[in-house]
Amino acid sequence: TAYEIYQCDWSSDVCSSDLKGIILHGGHGTRLRPLTHTGPKQLLPIANKPMSQYCVESLRDAGITDIAIIIGGVGSNKVQEYYGDGTKFGVKLTYISQDAPRGIAQAIGLCKEFVNGEKFVVFLGDNILKKSITEYVQRFESSDAKASILLCEVNNPTQFGIADIKDGVLKKIMEKPKDPPTNLAVTGIYLLTPTIFDIIARLKPSWRNEYEITDALQMLLQEQYKITYDMVTDYWKDTGTPHDIIHANQVILSAMKPYFEGNKEGNSDISGNVMVGSGTIIKEGSKVIGPVIIGKDCQIGPNAYIGSNTSIGDNSKISNCHIENSIIMSGCSINGEFTIKDSIIAFNSEISKSDTPDKIFLLGEGTKISL
Ligand code: DAU
Repeated sequence: TAYEIYQCDWSSDVCSSDLKGIILHGGHGTRLRPLTHTGPKQLLPIANKPMSQYCVESLRDAGITDIAIIIGGVGSNKVQEYYGDGTKFGVKLTYISQDAPRGIAQAIGLCKEFVNGEKFVVFLGDNILKKSITEYVQRFESSDAKASILLCEVNNPTQFGIADIKDGVLKKIMEKPKDPPTNLAVTGIYLLTPTIFDIIARLKPSWRNEYEITDALQMLLQEQYKITYDMVTDYWKDTGTPHDIIHANQVILSAMKPYFEGNKEGNSDISGNVMVGSGTIIKEGSKVIGPVIIGKDCQIGPNAYIGSNTSIGDNSKISNCHIENSIIMSGCSINGEFTIKDSIIAFNSEISKSDTPDKIFLLGEGTKISL
């Protein structure tokens, strides 16, 4: 299937765990406006799948099936509508509301009862990790560490929680330092024990008025509790900005296995790593050059060029245009001789070329467009 990279061998014991999972699905999503005016950023699609679904599947594939989702903010009801009780995704879901985004640590603090004395894994719903977490989870399960973090080298360390490490020993954890001692970002996957709840209860809000997970981890460290770490050398992304989302889309697409469940008409040309859903028609004069994913019931063409690193959601109609390195969400209609590159077009948008004098531009609040 398309999501094979996250699949687990259910016949082996390897994939069963007593750990609980928590996914953070709240927050403001301000950096992704206007895409987040109507719903949480974690539901924005990457390779035609909400980004938080990668977290659900990653936990599930590591055997963690009892998962709480923290919801809050605009359109949080959409999270429940999409995931339901979790059965469709092979997990059992509990929803916990956060009344305002008071910080990652505060959100985790709401889960004390849910965690019920077990070890647990927190996944920030906007973090994409390509590699399976199974190995980290197993190691943590059998260790006596009170917490474990995953670190990843970044080239913009002022944007993340950062770990200072000397001779392989974790010295300090800090949130977005102005003068970072290392470029080792603390990724948004935290392996924790209930000890963290006592710490969270004693935390003070940070300069940005949030209860920071990095402050909680630093306190654990100062109080001599054991924290281990692993390095992520594979792909990890915090999808904070549109550029990050487009990049994650490229990476996920190129790791997918091709399939073709649609129909191809006339002289249309399909090459490379291409995934096409059922009911989709690729019409004459069109070219699709992978990696590309096209959802179900789409009409591509006539004369459409869908270039590499493009995702097109279900029920979209694309004709006569050139699209590449972009995310077109479901229900879009795009028709005309123009090029769309490096762009994210949200659900149900219409773009067309008009020869009539009454051209009209309807851009939502906070739209970014350069012509
Ligand atoms: O992605 C890794 C980084 O995530 C870490 O390196 C930082 O140490 C950590 O603080 C966090 O930084 P961000 O500034 O990127 O966090 P952000 O506010 O984007 O929130 C992360 C996720 O958690 C996002 O999916 C929204 C959700 N969230 C956030 C807050 C503050 C909640 O559900 N509730 C909250 O109160």
